[in-house]
Amino acid sequence: MTEQREQWGSRLGFILAAAGSAIGLGNIWKFPYIAGENGGAAFVFIYLVCIAIIGLPVLVGEVLIGRSSHRDPVGAFKVLHGSKVWMAIGGMGVFAGFVILSFYSVVAGWSLGYIIESYNGVFYNFQSAGDAGNHFGSLVSNVEWILSFHTIFFILTMIIVYFGIQKGIERYSKILMPLLFILLVVMVFRGLSLEGADKGLAFLFKPDWSKINGETVLVALGHAFFTLSLGMGAMMTYGSYMSDKDSVLSASLQIVILDTLIAMLAGVAIFTAVFATGQDPTAGPGLIFHTLPVVFTKMPGGQIFSTLFFLLLTIAALTSAISLLEVVVAFFVDELKWVRHKAVILFGLVTWGIGIPSALSFNKMSEVHFFGMTFFDVSDYLASNILLPLGGFFIAIFVGWVWGFDKVLPKLKSGAEDFFDKYPERITYWQFFIKYLAPVLIFLVFLNSVGLLDKIKTLFN
Ligand code: TRP
Repeated sequence: MTEQREQWGSRLGFILAAAGSAIGLGNIWKFPYIAGENGGAAFVFIYLVCIAIIGLPVLVGEVLIGRSSHRDPVGAFKVLHGSKVWMAIGGMGVFAGFVILSFYSVVAGWSLGYIIESYNGVFYNFQSAGDAGNHFGSLVSNVEWILSFHTIFFILTMIIVYFGIQKGIERYSKILMPLLFILLVVMVFRGLSLEGADKGLAFLFKPDWSKINGETVLVALGHAFFTLSLGMGAMMTYGSYMSDKDSVLSASLQIVILDTLIAMLAGVAIFTAVFATGQDPTAGPGLIFHTLPVVFTKMPGGQIFSTLFFLLLTIAALTSAISLLEVVVAFFVDELKWVRHKAVILFGLVTWGIGIPSALSFNKMSEVHFFGMTFFDVSDYLASNILLPLGGFFIAIFVGWVWGFDKVLPKLKSGAEDFFDKYPERITYWQFFIKYLAPVLIFLVFLNSVGLLDKIKTLFN
């Protein structure tokens, strides 16, 4: 009896920790704004397809690598294969973690700052929907405001990773994350009750395929990786703490369902409000900060709700940021034998520093462009649309071709014996997805986004 309870406890622990990493700004801030920029429903559809046929199989593979090696990402490849090339791919993940955390903290800082704005009831002074957008604009153009909150958020992240009090955070997450979920459901109902909400639903669910091009597909794929914390070894690290008695398949499926559910709820809450209040869905990274304050001012108890919402969003961002810094720190501690505290301080400072030009992208450096994008956008693009899909590609290749299926299958079966007996064909599907479909699709999406696919097509015409 005791044994059974303990098993269940650890299984839930893994799912919550992994969901805590997956659910963050990606779901509530990034998903709505990139869906808005890329035309809505058609993009959402492609994103869901990417999640199902690439994200889920690669997540299973990544968790499996972690659980089988019980090591950090670089160490995992070392144990399972030993070659320098594969270790370098683990290293690429560590680099991606750096880049993501640097701009992630800037946005988390906005959320932190909005706790104070909400608490002070600033939103009640807005006369029209446009005022919320203007207010956001004036806050982010204030260098002091944006840098202070970036810094405070970073200090919080570093303190938690420094003292290793994740256990505490995890215990609180078990209460706070369901609370975030409930609040999001309240806002969905609030959004749906607004006049004109149906236009928002149509935007989100009625595809206009003409809005889709190679670039959009790459953004959808990149976001599938970003939102699942995939392609850089974060899920590998969590998998390394998982017991062999638990099913990797069902745990992965649950993480994907939770993460997608939160993103869709956020999408409904935000686009109903965007269209009901006549705002611009292509507003970009500020979208939720333009829209939600308007919704909050229009609902009873709005001040309490908005304070709570931004508090919970900040905490969701914190549980994701910890996982990002932890991957970087774990690498320097495990592989290069650094002292943990030194690694936290040095890499915390370096990553915070790389975040500064991202913060300045909204004010002083807004006119400084690299490849036509601000520093903030370049960091996001490089990490989400290039490094993560590339990492996912190599993870699929590793599991499908290098590791050897004779070794992979018994590992996958461990903890999922019943499932294997009942649905042997589903295992074959997974094998097909990770071996052929995922790598080929990722490859095609890359070709397509640089326009190579079109050129190849014309060659054959
Ligand atoms: N998935 C998180 C989000 O949606 C962000 C994140 C945390 C992440 N850890 C990661 C993304 C590791 C990629 C890799 O907000």
